[in-house]
Amino acid sequence: MEGPVGVVVLAAGKGTRMRSARPKVLHLLCGLPLLEYPLRLARELDPAETVVVVSHGKDLIEATFSHWPVKFVDQGEPLGTGHAVLSARAALSAPRFFVLPGDVPLVPPQALHALLERHLASGALASFLSVELSEPNPYGRVVRDESGKPKKIVEAGDASPGELAIREVNSGIWCLENHPAVWEALARLSPQNVKGEYYLTDLVALLYPRVEAVLWPEPEDLLGINDRVDLARLEGILRRRILESWMREGVTVVDPAAVYPGPDVRVSPDTVIFPGTFLFGKTEIGPNCQIGPQAYLVDSKVGEGVRIWFSVLEAVEVGPEAQIGPYAHLRAGARIGARARIGNFVEIKASQIGEGTKALHLAYIGDAEVGPGANIGAGAITCNFQPGKKEKFRTEIGAGAFIGSNACLIAPIRIGEGAVVGAGSVITEDVPPYALALERSPQVVKPNWARRKEEG
Ligand code: UD1
Ligand code: CA
Repeated sequence: MEGPVGVVVLAAGKGTRMRSARPKVLHLLCGLPLLEYPLRLARELDPAETVVVVSHGKDLIEATFSHWPVKFVDQGEPLGTGHAVLSARAALSAPRFFVLPGDVPLVPPQALHALLERHLASGALASFLSVELSEPNPYGRVVRDESGKPKKIVEAGDASPGELAIREVNSGIWCLENHPAVWEALARLSPQNVKGEYYLTDLVALLYPRVEAVLWPEPEDLLGINDRVDLARLEGILRRRILESWMREGVTVVDPAAVYPGPDVRVSPDTVIFPGTFLFGKTEIGPNCQIGPQAYLVDSKVGEGVRIWFSVLEAVEVGPEAQIGPYAHLRAGARIGARARIGNFVEIKASQIGEGTKALHLAYIGDAEVGPGANIGAGAITCNFQPGKKEKFRTEIGAGAFIGSNACLIAPIRIGEGAVVGAGSVITEDVPPYALALERSPQVVKPNWARRKEEG
């Protein structure tokens, strides 16, 4: 490669066709904001600099991507893709740069390598990737001369019927020389067109014949998102790609149309994923698991042989062979030990659950350390929160302890190893190991009370 390459990502457009108060590039595709895709692509190219052109929703976009090593440039009123590139000029130092639209998310790095290679070999001032589509609307059409050189791009709205019949379209991805001739041409763009915008595409006619069009053979890679129909369509494509890569690695996906993966999720072989399953963030699933039906996991780590069904897991860890669900909610910081069983309507937050411990029905465990082999009865609650206090208090439950049904453990509190807490007890003081703690009034039985009442 001849010297460093910069990247300009265009993210300033109004996104009118989305009909949204939210900037288009912040809409989610497989759980990630659209802009994340070109930024990741740029990062893979190891560019001299990445410049993101913004305008509409700029504060929100900059806040969302504040941790990215990119320069934001404010386009002001977005007057078109050509105007957007011009506004990045001062931020560019590399001898040439890619232009990546913020709304074209599935581009493989190989396409950019192919573009750059041809761009360099031909000595062009500007090159772009094109694709052939059977449905070429609403893309700009590539008009070539008799020798096959691109001579202009006509936007769909400005095209003649003959031009509209052309199926080769502009992907919006460019490689441009950081050269006075290119900047002069950009400065000469005119908004005399249907949209009244400064089209980057007019560069082709202005720089002809020093322009190359590189036809990329896989049209799906370069599709753009202009409205929510496109968004759903690309979501479908990306979803299928992710799930197919998992299936090729030995994961069973029972119904690929009903599983929703994020691009950063990892799943090991011989795991079976049932319908209605959402796997997002940095989730990692071990081998031989059964996930779903109806599971929602984000940023969670699951060991091997785990079963999770009809449950929600957010930023949690689950040890091998544990069983979660149906209807469990594991919240941030829950760490479930090997072979533990967490069942119906149990909520766990910021708690360690020991190996083989069971909490099978209707319990809340928060800010707790539960040892191995313990049994948490139906309806048991760790009362970790006291009115008027900000901090959450911790509960410790020792190995093999038995917490009876409907017990309330008022934290901070420790239940010793092997201790038993009677059902219905409200426990406010520590219980020593192997002790029985009961807190309930003696039962009162009044024989024939009801009958006497009836008789007056
Ligand atoms: C553009 C191309 C079209 C191509 C298509 C591929 C032009 C004039 N047309 O059309 O040939 O087939 O992409 O997807 O280039 N943007 C700015 N500032 C602006 C205007 C747009 O940053 O002033 C950004 C948008 O946020 C978007 C990208 O540039 O991310 C493309 O703009 P958009 O209006 O979507 O162009 P298309 O009509 O799709
Ligand atoms: Ca577009």
